[in-house]
Amino acid sequence: MLNPIIKNFSELATSPERTDALKIAEAGLQAIDTQTVLRNAIELDGNIIRVAGQRFDLSHYKHTYVIGFGKVACTAAFTLEQILAKRIKEGAVVGLSERVCQAIDTYAGTHPIPSAQNYTATKHIEEVARRAKADDLVIVIVSGGGSALLCSSMGECDQGQKLFQAFLSSGGTIEELNTVRKHISKLKGGGLAEALYPATVISLIFSDVPGGDLAAVASGPTCYDESTVADAQAIIDRYDLGEFTLNETPKDLELFKRVHNIPIVTNVTALTAMQAAARTLGYQADIVSATQYATADETATMLTQEPAIGSMRAMGGETKVTVPEGSLGKGGRNGYLALSMIESLTVGQVFVSVASDGHDNTSAAGAIVDHTTIVKATQISVTVADHKQALDSFGFFEAVGGHIQTGLLDSNVSDLLFLLTPKTVVTGGAITDISAKVINDSRGKPTISVTVTAGGHSGTFSVPSGASTGSREAVVVPAVAAVTIIEHVVRPALLGMLVTDQATIDATLRSLGQVPSLDAIGGNTALGVSVAAAKAAASVAGVPVHAYVAELFGRQTQAVAPRLVVNLINGGQHATVGSPIQEHQIIPDTDDVHAAHAAASAVQKTLHQLLLKDFKPRQITIGDEGGFVVPTTTIEAPFAYIQAAIEQTDTMVPILMGADIAASSFYADGEYTLYGKQYAAGELLTLYRALHKQFPSLQFVEDPFTEHDYAAFAKYQSSQPAVTCIGDDLTTTNVTSLQKAIKAESITGIIIKPNQIGTLSDTLATMQLAYQHNVRCIVSHRSGETMDDFIADLAVGTGAFGLKTGAPTMPERAAKYDRLLTIMPPHD
Ligand code: PGA
Ligand code: ZN
Repeated sequence: MLNPIIKNFSELATSPERTDALKIAEAGLQAIDTQTVLRNAIELDGNIIRVAGQRFDLSHYKHTYVIGFGKVACTAAFTLEQILAKRIKEGAVVGLSERVCQAIDTYAGTHPIPSAQNYTATKHIEEVARRAKADDLVIVIVSGGGSALLCSSMGECDQGQKLFQAFLSSGGTIEELNTVRKHISKLKGGGLAEALYPATVISLIFSDVPGGDLAAVASGPTCYDESTVADAQAIIDRYDLGEFTLNETPKDLELFKRVHNIPIVTNVTALTAMQAAARTLGYQADIVSATQYATADETATMLTQEPAIGSMRAMGGETKVTVPEGSLGKGGRNGYLALSMIESLTVGQVFVSVASDGHDNTSAAGAIVDHTTIVKATQISVTVADHKQALDSFGFFEAVGGHIQTGLLDSNVSDLLFLLTPKTVVTGGAITDISAKVINDSRGKPTISVTVTAGGHSGTFSVPSGASTGSREAVVVPAVAAVTIIEHVVRPALLGMLVTDQATIDATLRSLGQVPSLDAIGGNTALGVSVAAAKAAASVAGVPVHAYVAELFGRQTQAVAPRLVVNLINGGQHATVGSPIQEHQIIPDTDDVHAAHAAASAVQKTLHQLLLKDFKPRQITIGDEGGFVVPTTTIEAPFAYIQAAIEQTDTMVPILMGADIAASSFYADGEYTLYGKQYAAGELLTLYRALHKQFPSLQFVEDPFTEHDYAAFAKYQSSQPAVTCIGDDLTTTNVTSLQKAIKAESITGIIIKPNQIGTLSDTLATMQLAYQHNVRCIVSHRSGETMDDFIADLAVGTGAFGLKTGAPTMPERAAKYDRLLTIMPPHD
């Protein structure tokens, strides 16, 4: 068993998926470990060595020498000596730290700024190189960092130092830097090949080779250089780098005839090992790209596009991060990329990004992230956006956890990164995603549609909105803001939570919303997520939504089936002309919803005929909730038309009348204004008495007084004990307001609108209280509706007394009736 490279493996392996991801990362890092690379690449069989498929017979050579430079040179020399043992006559290498070898001298040099130590080591390397004759073999170790470590003279050392500093702020590319480096050095750009000539040379190249250019590593000491002094001077001039003494690189091709440049490790070595490890663990594994040089956001998009279940998608390369001047953030490319990925991950997905040398510009090698990262961050109030902005990925992972610790590694390829998507959809109904979009409601106003996903299950809810809104209703945030809040606040907080745990989901929404009216996130946001979660949970449980609601509600009922409260004539804020009373309704008095629906439609047709007798067709329009809007001029008129329509329609069921007065809409400063005439509360009561006398079937009256006047409601209710006095704006589906209304004996009915209170749990709590006090619950739509049909399931699931969902014609209203008729079996 190899020594583990990831030192904090067990601390990070907190889930099966993270464990798999760490195993895959470990396999990638192990594969590029210099000792492993050499043992895999070099095969010794008697006198024959095979290097990456090329064969050399050691018995043909008098002496074998080893020279080398670069970050991994000392470890490579040490390993070569173990493989070739006494066959090595002599050698010298310069790296970052010495290793004790027998025949090879190792030196520790400086990087990336060259120093005198580098020159001392290089002098020895050059001596060995020049000692080699035509019948000798020289193995050269070339690795990243060699450009600085190999330094042929103090002159080159000084020039190299000056060049590097001038280049840092120039905006030039690494290729351009290397072109100049080749011409200030006696050994780079093929100079070492000249020193080695005429010996046979095996140049083992340890690094990524971007674009296949072997000369890119360590400025190509054993590679033929195409560039000239003039090219180097042009670069110096272009970036105004200063004065440099340049020399030409060797151009005689004869010098390179016996040189074998062999790349023995690139990031593909790691990526292939990661692919193999992922396959062994049962994942479908793809190398998306070995040369990924994109920004973090581009990479995130590429990796998260429709990843297959049970897949590993890997990339090698370097993430482009633009560091603005004066940025104080700490962290490397890998940490920054991991930070950028966090919000795109679904539950169970794991993302890892590591620097192959174990040093992501910090003491950490990189980071591992999954949805728990954001949950933790949210808990301790650490935000992704702030740390991204400040380029402080190090601070983020120090606080939240997730840094991968390896210490400095003996390997040197590009960064390694991959996304792991779990093999099985996370079971147990954990929330794996939440998304939202803006749609238009029945009034053409923007609202939101929210989808909660739990593995293979999902639920979508489209949120309605009111016009005659009670002042105590949950606040509504603009749809676009709600979508952002869901993506950045709600989604991270709920990911991983059990979708069937409605209480915890709603409690979390409530705490995110802060004050009782849910100001911080909006009641529309909360309700969208709450109901979408319930629908997804029903799917997880394999039951219809109403059955799931019944389970949540504890299977209590008020009625066999909801009475239909059907709005036939609109007024008030739902109309432009006509009655100040918002809704004139009929209530077919039967628990056969099919019969009730048919009767309501029949009465509606008759009513239309009756209205056409007295009004021109263009005078009859349709209100927000699908009822007729007609320019009547008395309070009684609409009731009279409806009464007549009921009488003239041949239905099998008794039909009662109802009204939503929505009195707050015509109340101001202690007075109610109807058709230009002012009424005090007592006078309005007198008016209602007369109305009831004239229309005995008017038995359901909603919001007869303004929304704060519990006492006026009570007076009315006691004067009309047979009438169901219903609170809507008075109670706003709120437990506290309902408690007050019960105490004051204001009502015997309550309108239930989930969006008034903001979560399903709170809606059900209000209904529980109503049931305990025999207050009839009428589940209701809003005037601004969507095609969503959840309230039908809510009414059935809670066994509510009634369902109020407009006239049975407009599509948004019809959707609820259709759903109700689908759920409830017809009576025979
Ligand atoms: P709203 O009207 O949805 O506009 O508030 C319905 C009602 O008052 O019952
Ligand atoms: Zn109302």
